[in-house]
Amino acid sequence: MTEEFSDIGLIGLAVMGQNLALNIADHDFRISVYNRTTSKMEAFVAENPDTPGGIVGAETLELFVQSIAAPRKIIILVQAGKPTDAVIEGLIPLLDEGDIVIDGGNALWTDTIRREKELRAQGLRFVGSGVSGGEEGARFGPSLMPGGAIEAWKEIEPIWHAVAAKVDAATGKQLEGATPGNPVEGGVSCAAYIGPNGAGHYVKMIHNGIEYGDMQMICEVYHLMHGLLGMEAGEIGQIFAKWNEGLLDSFLIEITADILQQTDSATGAPFVDIVLDAAGQKGTGKWTSINALDMGICAPTIAEAVFARCLSAIKEERVAASQLLAGPSAEFSGNKEEFIEVLHDALYCSKICSYAQGFQLMREAQKEYKWTLDFGQIAQIWRGGCIIRAAFLQKITEAYAHNSSLANLLLDPYFNEAVRKAQANWRQAVSAAVNHGIPTPTLSSSLAYYDGYRNARLPQNLLQGQRDYFGAHSYERTDSPRGEFFHLDWPHPERPQTAV
Ligand code: 6PG
Repeated sequence: MTEEFSDIGLIGLAVMGQNLALNIADHDFRISVYNRTTSKMEAFVAENPDTPGGIVGAETLELFVQSIAAPRKIIILVQAGKPTDAVIEGLIPLLDEGDIVIDGGNALWTDTIRREKELRAQGLRFVGSGVSGGEEGARFGPSLMPGGAIEAWKEIEPIWHAVAAKVDAATGKQLEGATPGNPVEGGVSCAAYIGPNGAGHYVKMIHNGIEYGDMQMICEVYHLMHGLLGMEAGEIGQIFAKWNEGLLDSFLIEITADILQQTDSATGAPFVDIVLDAAGQKGTGKWTSINALDMGICAPTIAEAVFARCLSAIKEERVAASQLLAGPSAEFSGNKEEFIEVLHDALYCSKICSYAQGFQLMREAQKEYKWTLDFGQIAQIWRGGCIIRAAFLQKITEAYAHNSSLANLLLDPYFNEAVRKAQANWRQAVSAAVNHGIPTPTLSSSLAYYDGYRNARLPQNLLQGQRDYFGAHSYERTDSPRGEFFHLDWPHPERPQTAV
């Protein structure tokens, strides 16, 4: 740290930007901040006069750039897409060779690949760093997924490790208790170099795809508890709180318990009962699903989670359809306590499938983009700070430590055994949902994924016959090597002529 110059700069003082700046300053790094609306910058600097590292406000981009020590490290935290490009364009003429621009937003990884290439051609360095953990994470320890040139990572590494969330080395549990000015000490940081160019933002996108899956399957279990078992929100919240002490221990289960036990102050009703059932989305789950389709990788749980949000969003159409379309009644006649256990296992097995799909996507993407991703380490940096942080991720790290070229998480002995033990309950949950007309797209599609993956012979032999019949698309034979294609000269019957 120097007297005159800042260690790093940050552009974009929305909540995430403010919190990350405070986190950096808490770790004794001096940070310059710039915001397009100067009054916002001034207010932020005035409100935070005594941070350990110091926060320096700049009124113009020129002064901002001049205030940072070389090689400059500049974090951009503005809206993904065009706003990010606009900020980069404004910065480029002001920078010197070797300076590092870091995009901390939820950028599309192909944009990051493009930007990294463009900046490299101009002698600049570009890091696309996934930042997960929402506002709280940014303030007291996010999970950080940087991608770009390794030399650029080396420059930012000390700051990234300092500000990232920390987990206990032995248990993988997140170290809590940070307060303003007092960050947690020790532990293993949840930041790791992911790979070149867009690798960091790609991995962050997969994180979000998994986040979509986790959230939706929790919602489906809530739907079954409420719609089938007739449980009220508070009681369901207590079940989630209990589950948070076991195999499902995770941030999303923990906050679900809190949300379900929250009361609406205006009505006294459970908070969730007054929230409209129409979900929003910003696109990262959609990008994950589009990428799965583009690469031909099966990731139905994540895609179903996106579609479930789409279906929820057409609220008025569903209300109208509910008056017209028939379905079975949702009357439950079993043992409630036992069925809650059934749901626990269905959630756990579906979660394993969803993560298996996410890791399969990363495995394929690394081939496509010539990255070498360390899957065990990715699971490790997701142990703390991020939205999908969960005890379960420790098992994923261990799975890749046993076998770094594991084809699918389901094949790891621990997960194989976990699903073997719990699958009868998983099937029972999905059957009950189907029989009672409660939609469980992620629980059901995860099960279909599992059954599809474990079947040595699927019915696509018939599908290939169909393709060959109507389009001469050819087929492979079971008694010939893969890659050898055949076509049958089908005896098409004469079709009756359509009268004109
Ligand atoms: C995180 C989150 C964060 C945000 C997502 C989800 O890791 O901190 O994933 O990035 O919550 O963008 O947003 P949507 O649900 O609106 O798509």
